[in-house]
Parts: sequence; C-alpha cells; structure tokens
Amino acid sequence: MPKVTKPKSTRASKTSAAPQPSLPLATTIDAARDRAARCKACDLYKNATQTVFGDGAHKPKIMFVGEQPGDQEDQQGRPFVGPAGKLLNSALEKAGIDRAKTYVTNTVKHFKWEPRGKRRIHKKPNGTEIAACRPWLNTEIALLKPEVVVCLGATAAQALLGRTFRVTQRRGELMKSSVAPFIMATIHPSSILRAPEQTRHSEMARFIDDLKKLTQFA
Ligand code: URA
Repeated sequence: MPKVTKPKSTRASKTSAAPQPSLPLATTIDAARDRAARCKACDLYKNATQTVFGDGAHKPKIMFVGEQPGDQEDQQGRPFVGPAGKLLNSALEKAGIDRAKTYVTNTVKHFKWEPRGKRRIHKKPNGTEIAACRPWLNTEIALLKPEVVVCLGATAAQALLGRTFRVTQRRGELMKSSVAPFIMATIHPSSILRAPEQTRHSEMARFIDDLKKLTQFA
C-alpha cells in the first residue's frame, strides 16, 4: 500500500488558473496527438516548429508531466529528449524505473522562446498559455488513466495541484488526488543541470530518492 499524504487543502486546486477537467478532446491518444498537431488555442504555435505531444506507453501506470518542450524537443517533436531528458533517463534508471513503461508529457505543448543571438532561450509559459493547453493534458490523463501523475517542477505542480503548491516544501509526497489515484511533485530535472557543481550530486541523489517512491507503480 503506497504511503500517502493527503493534500493539505482542496482550496489549492480551486485557486489554479487552469480550467477544471474537461471531456477528452479525442477518443484515442493517437487521435488526440493528431488533433493537437493543429492546435492554435494560444499564440505559441506561431514561433514553434511543431506541437510536442506526450509520448510513451499506451497503458502507463506512471505519467510524468514537465513544463514545456525545450529547443531539442521542439526540433525532434518528442518530450524530454534534450539535456533535461537525458538527466531524467539517468535518474529513472538509477531509481529502477523503465521509462519505456511510463508516459512523458508537458503542461504546455509548444516551445516558448525568445532569441538571444543565434540561440533560442526558453521562456516560462504564462497562465493563459497553460490554461489554453490544459485540455490536452486532461485528455492524456483521461485516456491513459495512469495510477500516478508526477509533476516535474513548479509549472506542472501548480497547474495540477494549485498555484499555492510549493514543490520545495512538498516534494516527494505521494498524495491522493482527483487528477489520478495518486499524484506526486518533485523538482524539474533542468534545475539539477543549473545547480552549482558543489550541490549537483546531492540534488541528483534527492531526485532519485523521490523517483524511488514510484517503484511500487513501475
Ligand atoms: N523541459 C520540459 O519541461 N519538458 C521537456 O520536454 C524538455 C525540457
């Protein structure tokens, strides 16, 4: 039986900028991916190469939700394939979780960026963009029915657990949820890439410890 913590307040989810769960936008995940490829619900599609829909097992017990695709994800059309994805893969392997049996997606499905010289620099999605994309995330959850949804970082956690949720205070807690039977939040793998060298190793160890709480679902 998973060790579960109750969310401290249900108010949190009511304060979320995101709309409440809606009906799935398609009846199969492949149909949803096709439809999302033409999504113009906000302006982010204008500067992105393509929609980066979720990817992974068709009957996953674990669904990871990141923030938004990065530069490499935008080019390749798949979530978590760049540096943050490589770090996630390594942490999952060390935690004993097979990524191929999970499903990985993002809160927002288009890359938001601004130019800096020749580089495209990641820009945080705003509440309107997160809300516009929410029906796709709801659709993925409704169709795939994971047992546990894992929020990677504050954007996913605040979209799914409410804007007052603090990953720093509640990371690694497995909670019962209306989103899926269980929900957990932890840090975003890119925060480990950005951490100073002295703390990077311990940050990675803590991240792996959080992921180990999911092995009961793996
Ligand atoms: N960061 C994310 O949040 N998602 C990705 O797919 C890649 C990097």
